Amino acid sequence: MTYALSPSEEWSRTPPKHTSLLGWKSVRPFRHLSNDLGVDLGTSNTLIYSPHQDIVLQESSTIAIHQWTHTPIAVGNTARQLHGRTSAPVRVCRPVRNGVIADFNLTQVMLQSFIRKAQQGTHIFRPRLVLGCSCGATDIEREALTEAALEAGAREVVLVDEPVAAAIGVGLPIDKPKGNLIIDIGGGTTETAIVCSSQVVDSQVIPIAGDRFNQAIIDYLRQTYQVTIGELTAESIKIQYGTATDSAANDAPIEMVGINVGSGLPQRLVINRGELRDALSSPLHQIAISLLNILERINPELVTDIAERGIMLTGGGALLVGIDTYIQELTHLPVHVAQDPLHSVVLGAGYILQGNHEPQVVFKAA
Ligand SMILES: Nc1ncnc2c1ncn2[C@@H]1O[C@H](COP(=O)(O)OP(=O)(O)OP(=O)(O)O)[C@@H](O)[C@H]1O
Ligand SMILES: [Mg+2]
Repeated sequence: MTYALSPSEEWSRTPPKHTSLLGWKSVRPFRHLSNDLGVDLGTSNTLIYSPHQDIVLQESSTIAIHQWTHTPIAVGNTARQLHGRTSAPVRVCRPVRNGVIADFNLTQVMLQSFIRKAQQGTHIFRPRLVLGCSCGATDIEREALTEAALEAGAREVVLVDEPVAAAIGVGLPIDKPKGNLIIDIGGGTTETAIVCSSQVVDSQVIPIAGDRFNQAIIDYLRQTYQVTIGELTAESIKIQYGTATDSAANDAPIEMVGINVGSGLPQRLVINRGELRDALSSPLHQIAISLLNILERINPELVTDIAERGIMLTGGGALLVGIDTYIQELTHLPVHVAQDPLHSVVLGAGYILQGNHEPQVVFKAA
C-alpha cells in the first residue's frame, strides 16, 4: 500500500509548515546560511541535504583504506564496489554498524569526504549539521557521533532522533498530540518508534534489518545447496526478487552463480522467489516480534491513534516487496509505505534545518 495523504497534506519536497510545540531557537538564526546541511549517516548509506538544493549526496557508507599507510583509497559508492574484490593491504569497511559508530577515525574521514563533496568546494565556512541519530544510541554513542562530525569539519552539530526526522521527512503531522507509529527498516537496525508531539514516546531498536536479510539469503543457499555467494550478490538478489509474502509469482526462477563449498568451483544455480520468502522469514519474524512488543505495552490512547492513522514503514527495507502486507496481516492495522523510504531521514533533517520544525534536540555541541 502506498501512503496517501489528504490533498491538503500532499507530500512534497517543499517543507511542510507546522506550528511547533517545542522551542528550538538555536537553529533559527542560522537558517539563512546555505552551507548548513542535513545528514543521515546510516549503516548502509549516507545522505546529505542542502537547503534550497535538495539531496546533494547519496553514497554508500563505505571506505576502502590502505592498512599500512592508513590512507583512504576510495570512499562511498566506489569503495562499495571494491567490497570482496580487493586483497591485503587494502581493507574495505563500513565504519557505521547497527546505526552507531564502530570505527571513529574511519567514520570521521568518510564523513569529511562526504561533506566536502556535498559542498563542492563552494563554501569557506564550516557547515552546521542536523544529524540523524539512532534513538537507541547511548549518551556515549551520541557524543562519539557528534565528535566525529565536528572533527569532520562541522561547526556545530545538532542530533535528532531518526524516527522523528523520518516522520517529518515523510510528512506526518507529528507536532500534534496524537500517536504515530513509524518503523524504519535500515541496513543495520530496525527502529520501531511511537512519535507524539514531536518526541519519541516509546521505541525499540533491534540489529535486524537489510544486512540480516542479505545474510539470511547467503545462509539459506549455503545450507540448502552448499553454494556460497557474496554480500553484494545477495543484496542485489534481495532487491530484485526478495519478497515477504506468498504470491503467485513466487515460482518465478532466479538464476545466479556462486561457489560450491565442496569443490570450490563456480556453480550455476536456479532457485525461486518462494525460497527467498522462506529464507527471509526468520529476520522478518524478529521485526514482527519487536513491533508486537511495542503495541502490547503502549497506552490505549496511543493504540487508538495508531489504529486510525496506521503504521508508516520507511528506510530501504520498506521497499522489500510484500513487507506492508506482511505487517498488515500480523497487526490488522493499516500499513503505509513512505513515498521515498531511503530519503525520509535526510529530508526530515533538512526540514528541521530550515526551521520549519522544532523537535526535541537530543544532543547539541559546538
Ligand atoms: N528495493 C529494495 N528491497 C529490499 N531492500 C532494499 C531495497 N532497496 C534498498 N534496500 C535495502 O535497504 C537497506 C538500506 O536502507 P537505508 O539506507 O535506509 O539504511 P541505513 O539508513 O543506511 O541503515 P541504518 O538506518 O540501519 O543505519 C539496505 O540493506 C538495502 O539492501
Ligand atoms: Mg537509516
